[in-house]
Amino acid sequence: MDGRAVPATFTGVRPAILGTPESRIVEIFNYGRARQGTIPLWVGEGDQPTARFICEAAEQSLRDGQTFYTYQRGIPPLRQALADYLNTQFKANVSDERVIVTGSGMQALHLTAELLLDPGDEVVMVMPVWPNIAAAVTLMGGVLRPVPLRIQDGRWHLDLDELFANCGPRTKALFINSPSNPTGWVMDGADMDRVVEFVRRRGLWLLSDEVYGRLVFDGRPQESFLSRMEPEERLIVINSFSKNWQMTGWRVGWAVIPPSLGQLWENLVQYNTSGVAEFMQRAAVAAITQGEPLVRSIVAQCEAGRDLVVERLGAVPRVRLARPEGAFYAFFAVEGEPDSLALAKRLVDEAGVGLAPGVAFGEAGEGYQRMCFAISPAKLAEALDRLAAALT
Ligand SMILES: Cc1ncc(COP(=O)(O)O)c(C=O)c1O
Repeated sequence: MDGRAVPATFTGVRPAILGTPESRIVEIFNYGRARQGTIPLWVGEGDQPTARFICEAAEQSLRDGQTFYTYQRGIPPLRQALADYLNTQFKANVSDERVIVTGSGMQALHLTAELLLDPGDEVVMVMPVWPNIAAAVTLMGGVLRPVPLRIQDGRWHLDLDELFANCGPRTKALFINSPSNPTGWVMDGADMDRVVEFVRRRGLWLLSDEVYGRLVFDGRPQESFLSRMEPEERLIVINSFSKNWQMTGWRVGWAVIPPSLGQLWENLVQYNTSGVAEFMQRAAVAAITQGEPLVRSIVAQCEAGRDLVVERLGAVPRVRLARPEGAFYAFFAVEGEPDSLALAKRLVDEAGVGLAPGVAFGEAGEGYQRMCFAISPAKLAEALDRLAAALT
């Protein structure tokens, strides 16, 4: 509470809520959002509005009067379309009964934490990580055990033995976000096999955030834990329409869960939001059934953006950057700049570029900046010019 008097209304508020910090990503966004001419690369989204065919499906649904309460687990055509999509793209074997539509990937994360975590339960998590994931755990009274990614030979690297060694008697779950926000690290298939073998042996839950699952570069295979585990194993996969279909403002996501948990999850939805608006789900059906060319063009643009960032930022002597292998972020350190929030503010003021300070992603991220490169090539080139000038 930074030394200020505690308001009387705080009495009785759960300590886990009082202890949850403000998002530092939002802090820098608020710091710079009103500054004219800033190129905003601080949040995880592109600069294009959602495609027309997706918006039209929502408009049509509203015109058809689909404005009533609907299925708690999601409308059947969307659940089926998502199962088909996962089975085609990721060689999974998912039935529609395992798919639950949620009001964003964030809500899927939160419901997962509500479902599984008692106060004191530990979640072992690869860090740095998107701060909202950590907050979903701590808001429920869960305890984080961070395991750091490190740069080795110009790539982000996870030591699996270190990951496993951090799982103790209070560990309930292992959380993996690959491709990773903020680093662009991608876990390879052999490591995924070892993780599956480990969680099976130890009876742990595996929570896999596959929100950037389509965004892998250099011809690497798109992988999912869904193709490696059976329906009734302890696996929850979190996903979203936000990134792959340019639908960040819609707030639609999904989770894949063991079929036996369907009713329990439905209860959580019922007593929380009571489902996702039908017109948004109709738009999501259009996205998933007709959106393949769109997804491919977004992936191609992001890969070209990644190449440009590596070429341009990699040439700045003070910058240390591991080549992102997936997602749409570069996470780089600047020599002589240990305070990432101070540097992020300076880059807003002096370069007109908005980045997210690495400290927002946990202690492991201090000293780094996260830059989203999912934007159009001309704007990205301009941002890189400005950054190169400011950091040289
Ligand atoms: C790793 C990761 N998981 C989940 C989400 C949630 O996405 P949304 O709530 O927009 O569906 C995000 C968004 O940035 C993310 O980066």
